Amino acid sequence: MVDVELKGLVREFDDGSRIGPIDLHVKDGELLTLLGPSGSGKTTTLRMVAGFIENVGGSLLIDGRDMVNVPPRERNIGMVFQSVALFPNMTVFENISFGPDMAGWPREEVIERVEELADLLGVRQLLLRKISEVSGGEAQRVALARALATKPKLLLLDEPLSALDLQLRERLQTEIRRIQRKLKITTIYVTHSQDEAFAISDRVAILDDGVVSQVGTPEELYDSPANEFVASFLGSGNIVSGLITEVSDGNLMVSVKNNRFEIPGDGEVNSQIKFSVKPEDVIISDTPVPDWAQAELVSITPQVGSFKVSLEFNGIPIIALTNDEELVKKLRTNGEKTIAFAFKSESIIIL
Ligand SMILES: Nc1ncnc2c1ncn2[C@@H]1O[C@H](COP(=O)(O)OP(=O)(O)OP(=O)(O)O)[C@@H](O)[C@H]1O
Ligand SMILES: [Mg+2]
Repeated sequence: MVDVELKGLVREFDDGSRIGPIDLHVKDGELLTLLGPSGSGKTTTLRMVAGFIENVGGSLLIDGRDMVNVPPRERNIGMVFQSVALFPNMTVFENISFGPDMAGWPREEVIERVEELADLLGVRQLLLRKISEVSGGEAQRVALARALATKPKLLLLDEPLSALDLQLRERLQTEIRRIQRKLKITTIYVTHSQDEAFAISDRVAILDDGVVSQVGTPEELYDSPANEFVASFLGSGNIVSGLITEVSDGNLMVSVKNNRFEIPGDGEVNSQIKFSVKPEDVIISDTPVPDWAQAELVSITPQVGSFKVSLEFNGIPIIALTNDEELVKKLRTNGEKTIAFAFKSESIIIL
């Protein structure tokens, strides 16, 4: 059992800025990702867990044990840092064996462990090469092998793939996930890429300005963003605000820029409301439809399996996803600039 509890963890910097309080429970064997924009506190949080920097408030428990005054080397954690820090003049073998050697493992056990990890990560043929003689992607694998070498009970990965091109990154994401599952090692992963986070995580914690904004599975976050930050950061929601004009059993009539939208939910007449609609839940038409609103077409971008249609609705940007090729062809050839749109009311999320 290895679980990690961050309870109101706070870090303050000399300039008065602070990260936290952070509350998170990383479960045994789970891969939890910290996802957030640059400067949101991902690395700082990881460094507090590793013990490289101290928290000024709150507490950190690993397996229920308070880590206050437990130095990093006694926390039994494997880490890959944001910038890979391998020893360039040492061989791949020496880099991976560094930890076990330092820990005084018997020679045969060290060799066995290095070979096992080299197989797991596909760097067996590189063991005798120097780090300066391997590619960036290979170095990332070695860094991962080195982090795993001493059989840590917790793995912390800070943007371990950020320096790689997209193709290699996607391949290594899959590898990391496979290895993490195989070893069942509790892992905290850091990235600012939503795709990466969603591809590899059991759960994702969204960080906003030093605090956790929402935690959940990728599906939960995408389908039910808890607030505007999460919805807009994940790009999963068109954020729209309006005024409630009518309330009738379970339904609201909301006025947005003088257009009426019907939304399931509760509220009070004359109060403001903000809601989020996923792009795939925006329906569009090139001809006017009664009760639908009208927007200007801004652009059409092909994506894998669909088209992203950007609209402007009286100054509010609206993104729609469609896989209706006929419609897209018509929009493109007609030079049509006015589009009718509506929201699938059952999928609107009130924020
Ligand atoms: N030693 C420090 N002194 C002062 N401020 C710091 C220090 N370290 C980090 N910060 C600030 O804390 C905030 C969070 O930094 P952190 O490195 O945790 O962000 P991050 O989410 O990892 O960002 P990135 O995606 O760019 O790596 C930033 O605003 C940063 O400037
Ligand atoms: Mg960082």
